[in-house]
Amino acid sequence: MKIRVYRFHPERDQTPRMQSFEVAARPGMMLREALLEIKALDESFAFRHSCGEGVCGSDSVNVNGRNCLACTTALADLQEPIEVRPLPGRPVIRDLIVDMSQFYDHYRAIKPYLIRTDPLPEHEIHQTPEARAKLDGLYECILCGCCSTACPSFWWNPERFHGPAALLQAWRFLADSRDQATDERLDALEGAYKLFRCHSIMNCVEVCPKGLNPTQAIGNIKELMLSQAL
Ligand code: SF4
Ligand code: SF4
Ligand code: FES
Repeated sequence: MKIRVYRFHPERDQTPRMQSFEVAARPGMMLREALLEIKALDESFAFRHSCGEGVCGSDSVNVNGRNCLACTTALADLQEPIEVRPLPGRPVIRDLIVDMSQFYDHYRAIKPYLIRTDPLPEHEIHQTPEARAKLDGLYECILCGCCSTACPSFWWNPERFHGPAALLQAWRFLADSRDQATDERLDALEGAYKLFRCHSIMNCVEVCPKGLNPTQAIGNIKELMLSQAL
């Protein structure tokens, strides 16, 4: 199977190039295994990966124009020639490795932890099964970045628009019955950019490897903002 991978070493190369490799595909083989075989052929080839199970979110790449996790993408589902590039819109550190600092800055900015004003109880903070169910479809995010780096609004405003991943997490804490910082969280999202640069293009929903729906989460935040303002 022919696989073309993006190669760029910013300190050494003037321009990026695509390099072709032949990999013997085995039944059930995932793209991550093919990238490991390429690395065995040329150890200077660089890409991130860790768990191999769709859990750590580190091996997100762009394959034939679509963001995905290499470890959960079957070679059999891809059309040849397979072209593997770094996630779009992020500075390349080397080959398939991009700088995700800005992505994590936005995640940190939404305060991804419970905020309480009441004194903490001696044991756990109780939550009904119904309240807990509201976090389904939110807590499963693995911060792979496939969504934010597929979002045109994030490409154009990476410093100011929080992007779908961070906003999904903003809703995850707004929706949590144990959190007591609704006003503070909504105030922090005010303005033309952090939240409102989402134009519901839905690229984020299409590429999420966990089947999550950041567009809906963003819509829920906007609705809550509106209801609080009335
Ligand atoms: S729906 Fe919003 S967040 Fe998702 S890709 Fe479109 S603009 Fe980006
Ligand atoms: S919402 Fe989906 S695509 Fe976006 S970071 Fe989370 S798991 Fe990845
Ligand atoms: S290697 Fe961890 S998600 Fe793919």
